[in-house]
Amino acid sequence: MLIRAATPDDVPSIRALEQQAETAAHWAELEYDTLFAADAPPRIALVATSEADGGRVIGFVIARCAGAEWEIENVVVTPEERNRGLGIKIIRELLLQAQSAGATSVLLEVRESNLAARRLYEKLGFSQQGRRSGYYHDPKEDALLLCFFVTNLRQFDLEGE
Ligand SMILES: CC(C)(COP(=O)(O)OP(=O)(O)OC[C@H]1O[C@@H](n2cnc3c(N)ncnc32)[C@H](O)[C@@H]1OP(=O)(O)O)[C@@H](O)C(=O)NCCC(=O)NCCS
Repeated sequence: MLIRAATPDDVPSIRALEQQAETAAHWAELEYDTLFAADAPPRIALVATSEADGGRVIGFVIARCAGAEWEIENVVVTPEERNRGLGIKIIRELLLQAQSAGATSVLLEVRESNLAARRLYEKLGFSQQGRRSGYYHDPKEDALLLCFFVTNLRQFDLEGE
């Protein structure tokens, strides 16, 4: 398994993974088409690929990466690879890149009922900072606002070893 920066060639695989994942954030085609445009908002997109399977994309994360506050917009692991630590590895790589870029915090919103994602973020050291009532639709549900303070990364790294 390899984690690398996504390229425009990865967009169809990223879209396919997102569309299969009911609890993922769903973007319009145009948003993916402009992901790598010169005037697009600054973002980082990482993909995990299976080297044993010809470099197939098996997971991705997309984050806004402007300034001190980064924001994870989406993360998906292909169903057959879930629960094997891949989500942890992808987000951890993003947190390391946030640290290198001088970011101080990484934020995200998650559906309250998305226990898999909540467990993933909790394990990495994200903490709840707030709640957005009725934020999601179809079905209507609260969002939990989670935050990772980048200064905690050292502690996580030590615990992860
Ligand atoms: C959320 C998601 C990315 C997690 O990826 P993953 O590779 O399965 O996660 P990991 O294997 O690294 O697991 C991390 C932790 O979460 C736990 N976890 C994973 N799936 C779980 C589930 N369905 N229920 C409860 N806990 C779960 C794991 O057990 C692990 O904790 P542990 O080590 O204490 O056991 C994946 O489930 C997914 O793609 N979901 C659909 C898209 C989505 O909801 N994205 C989040 C949008 S905010």
